[in-house]
Amino acid sequence: MQRGRGWTIKTEQKTNEDSDMTIHLNHTIVSARDREGSAQFLSDILGVAAPETVGPFAIVQIGETSLDFVETEEEIHPQHYAFSVNEAEFDAIFQRIKDRGLSYWADPSRRNEGRINTWDGGRGMYWDDPNGHLLEIITRPYGSGGTTTDNPHPLVGENS
Ligand SMILES: [Fe+2]
Repeated sequence: MQRGRGWTIKTEQKTNEDSDMTIHLNHTIVSARDREGSAQFLSDILGVAAPETVGPFAIVQIGETSLDFVETEEEIHPQHYAFSVNEAEFDAIFQRIKDRGLSYWADPSRRNEGRINTWDGGRGMYWDDPNGHLLEIITRPYGSGGTTTDNPHPLVGENS
């Protein structure tokens, strides 16, 4: 374990297989102007199964967790959703983002446009969903490269 910015960072990803725990995030609700369009956007870019509509939700299943898009006419408060991907998935998603001419950034503050980051010795990038939610893909969990990698995650590196 390493400490950075007051929180503990896992250097190894533990899975439920490591213990008797079966808890995981089953679903979360995502506010959207157009639930079908927003869900389709996410599933297309990530390359996962097309959304399923159930009741008021357009549901995108991503691993064990689903993102359930629901329409609202209220103000949408942008949230952040980050996805862990492998190298091949990163390549494919990055290509789709470029093919669509979407803006993307290396950082969550959207300062470093048109670039990706190599934090933790992996790759990461950010882009917007149609509602302004900030989406992210990473090939390595935050902090997994520790402080000795060439390019530590800023949350780890700045206090080390
Ligand atoms: Fe993030």
